Amino acid sequence: MYVLGIETSCDETGVAVYHPERGLLAHLLHSQASLHRDYGGVVPELASRNHISRTILLIRDVLEAAGITKADGIAYTAGPGLVGALLVGAAIGRSLAYAWGKPAIAVHHMEAHLLAPMLEVHPPDFPFLALLVSGGHTQLVQVDAPSVYYILGDTLDDAAGEAFDKTAKLLGIEYPGGSQLSVLAENGRTGVFTFPRPMTARPGLDFSFSGLKTQVLNTVTASGSDEQTRADIARAFVDAVVDTLIIKCRRAMRSTGLKRLIAAGGVSANRQLREGLTRMIGEEGGRIYFPRPEFCTDNGAMIAYAGWLRLQSGVQEPLAFAAYPRWPLQDLPRVVDP
Ligand code: KG4
Ligand code: ZN
Repeated sequence: MYVLGIETSCDETGVAVYHPERGLLAHLLHSQASLHRDYGGVVPELASRNHISRTILLIRDVLEAAGITKADGIAYTAGPGLVGALLVGAAIGRSLAYAWGKPAIAVHHMEAHLLAPMLEVHPPDFPFLALLVSGGHTQLVQVDAPSVYYILGDTLDDAAGEAFDKTAKLLGIEYPGGSQLSVLAENGRTGVFTFPRPMTARPGLDFSFSGLKTQVLNTVTASGSDEQTRADIARAFVDAVVDTLIIKCRRAMRSTGLKRLIAAGGVSANRQLREGLTRMIGEEGGRIYFPRPEFCTDNGAMIAYAGWLRLQSGVQEPLAFAAYPRWPLQDLPRVVDP
């Protein structure tokens, strides 16, 4: 079964073709970053329009690259995300499936992130713990089997990626700032500034990152923003976020007894986080799994894979399609008995 994956939930148009035996045959990505840069963030209407002009062309190219003329199943991101952007992928995906007489499936964007490590050479066995850190979500999930998810911790306010982007803005870095902030932090000195590790002093696995940007703002106001100071502040911010994520992952591993951990979503591309989690896992005697960096951020490959997982269990969408801007992961139907 060749599965076409279509991702249009935010500001990247991603398409891919996955085959269960042959693996990932082709994947293409168009980033809209330059389109939104002048506005300092994603402009939903511009995002939708750009997806409209790009998606079909990318699908044509990815089918050609995969050496096929049509797929056996179409998976598209149905949520969570920007409703107009989601509707573009949903309308195109559902229509193609209808025209080809093939099944379509609505994919949950965070389930797709969570499954992205499955595309790597050494995928994790179930059960495992998942740290999902993206622009819209920060969650710790116990994954007992495919589709069997228990949310152990969630953010009470900003997601980790959102905190990266807002802090980047405070330090004068253009949108999308998260990855550039990490680059700036590489030149910063640990310990010049110290920010709190939010919600680590009390029990539980929830997160709160919104206070950190106030700390950053106060520090910029008090200490100025010459190049070294900006780098030192960026470093203190990254240290605080990474430490907090590591503390909570360690806590989740100890409380569940699970020894396998995956980290996925845009922030999991962060070098310092990857190194820190790898170190912690070594101390805990467990094993860590990451997607390759290009599949940490949004992409069509993870959508194709997640779609295959659901399509092979026999589920498919009715002809009507929908977009779900808010869609809790734990509401997903199960494809296996836990
Ligand atoms: O998963 P993703 O591409 O989209 C969402 O589902 O939200 O994640 C995007 C987020 C952005 O907030 C971006 O700043 C952050 O991931 N990000 C990073 C890095 N690369 C992307 N944050 C920290 N370090 C990075 N290297
Ligand atoms: Zn994402």
